[in-house]
Amino acid sequence: MALRNIRVKGDPILKLKSRKVERFDERLATLLDDMQETMYKADGCGLAAVQVGVLKRVVIVDTGEGLIELVNPEIVEKRGVQHEIEGCLSVPGESGITERPQWVKVHAQTRTGEEKEYVGEGLTARAFCHEIDHLDGHLFLERLIDEDKQRMLSNKKA
Ligand code: NI
Repeated sequence: MALRNIRVKGDPILKLKSRKVERFDERLATLLDDMQETMYKADGCGLAAVQVGVLKRVVIVDTGEGLIELVNPEIVEKRGVQHEIEGCLSVPGESGITERPQWVKVHAQTRTGEEKEYVGEGLTARAFCHEIDHLDGHLFLERLIDEDKQRMLSNKKA
């Protein structure tokens, strides 16, 4: 395993669309292993391949319930709404309240190409959506709820 450099906001690669994985080979396994080491080292709860400069539809998530590897993930079902604070390893020092579904079902493949479904709620649903957004060139900054709503929510919590 090896650490890879995390790309940060301003790097044009973060706006590009990642390509579908067709080959479930050693290269993919190495990428996933390196992403895992890089994410844990940075203390993140999710990482997309594009964040380490690789335009492949690959993400990893660990919200405290163990590592989940998603290859070619797609959200196939969503329910509810949540407004919570979100940040990103590629946007250091910034965070904000986003709107995300409360529950999602994701269809994906494993590192060996096996088809699998995952269900995520709360933080895990948010992480799935956040990471899958990266694969289409979107950062959480585009999902922030508007300022009035942000203010109302922060008043409520104060
Ligand atoms: Ni991110």
